[in-house]
Amino acid sequence: MSIWYPYKQMQSLGKIPTVIKAKGSMLYFEDGTQAIDAISSWWACIHGYAYRPLNRTLKKQVDRFSHVMLGGLTHTPALKLAAKLVEITPKGLNHVFFSDSGSVAVEVALKMAIQFWSNQGNKEKIKLISCKNSYHGDTFKAMQLSDDGDFTAAFSHILEKDFEIQIPENTNEYTQELQNFEALLITHSHTIAALVIEPIIQCAGGFNVYSSDYLDALNCLCVKYNVLTIYDEVATGFGRTGKLFATNHAKCVPDIMVLGKGLTAGYIGHAATIASTKVYEAFLSDEHNKALMHGPTFMGNPLACAVALKSIEIFQKKEYEKKILKIESTITHFFDTIQSEDIQGKRVLGAVGIIEVKNEKSIVGLKEFALENKVFIRPIGKMVYLMPSYRMKKKELLTILKTMKRWFEK
Ligand SMILES: Cc1ncc(COP(=O)(O)O)c(C=O)c1O
Repeated sequence: MSIWYPYKQMQSLGKIPTVIKAKGSMLYFEDGTQAIDAISSWWACIHGYAYRPLNRTLKKQVDRFSHVMLGGLTHTPALKLAAKLVEITPKGLNHVFFSDSGSVAVEVALKMAIQFWSNQGNKEKIKLISCKNSYHGDTFKAMQLSDDGDFTAAFSHILEKDFEIQIPENTNEYTQELQNFEALLITHSHTIAALVIEPIIQCAGGFNVYSSDYLDALNCLCVKYNVLTIYDEVATGFGRTGKLFATNHAKCVPDIMVLGKGLTAGYIGHAATIASTKVYEAFLSDEHNKALMHGPTFMGNPLACAVALKSIEIFQKKEYEKKILKIESTITHFFDTIQSEDIQGKRVLGAVGIIEVKNEKSIVGLKEFALENKVFIRPIGKMVYLMPSYRMKKKELLTILKTMKRWFEK
């Protein structure tokens, strides 16, 4: 096999569909069949596939120039996108560092946080607090912060967590967990650079939804004990939770926010790490060593920036938040009708719907069953989830939901 596919034992890969065309929410396969994509290519293609306004923007930019590095040069698409991101992200986040993937953008955030302290002469604050059930990417430091599980198992012997907290599933455990968190900070904050957290919903690591009040409470304690906050919005950014950013559900703002996936509407891999002025200013100095020494070749790629700008413009002009709330309502109502003893829980937030099963065995074969019914769905562990494009037709969404219902009720 010449391609080495992700997250898959290649020995048992079997036959997978070959896509020859993708349009709207539909994937068209080489054998003449088709399927509705329930997860918009790992949640990135927020407007669906081959969306004309985005295609046109990209073609125009290709004719101007498709790549110019940001080392010693700059260009209008990057300048405009940075300004736009500062405008639309929560107040205080003012400085945008571009990179080429969510994982790298998380790494950049970690470098910013640790160097923030060392630039001020504090070389002790180097540790990180991460959360159980989280996922932050596949690079080494991102794996160290992610939950122990399938994604990290092969390296568990070299991935040692600094500190890990649990976000409680039940609100009645919040007070106790916050007391534990404060106790951790009282004892160890002098060694801790930052808390890294996915706001409001933890995605690939567990699909847990939690309250913005809890997030704010963690943030306040971090401020109190001088620990930076990094919100990883790679999955949640650009509308997934019903608001433009998940942080917008909360009152507090992080020191650093990470964006990826939906940033370029799935057209080109790109990401952004956005820092507060407090963080940025700690890097201003006469000493070169205090600069942020990071620079991915394709950072600020003009094609990525141009398509991101257009995507944001469409998101805002066409009131996508309203569209997402309609998706949320459709999923919520339909989920209420799906009953099965195999189901442990159901959760819906924005354009995310999750059915958690009690035992992974009960969803063996679901992917194939869905494909036979013209739906592409790809459970992770015990989670069957949908994250459709925001332009998915209601009829298509209902086809996905009916297929899930048939599976669980068969
Ligand atoms: C919350 C979160 N952070 C980081 C990443 C990594 O992003 P990428 O796959 O672009 O490296 C992901 C990917 O799923 C994610 O969901």
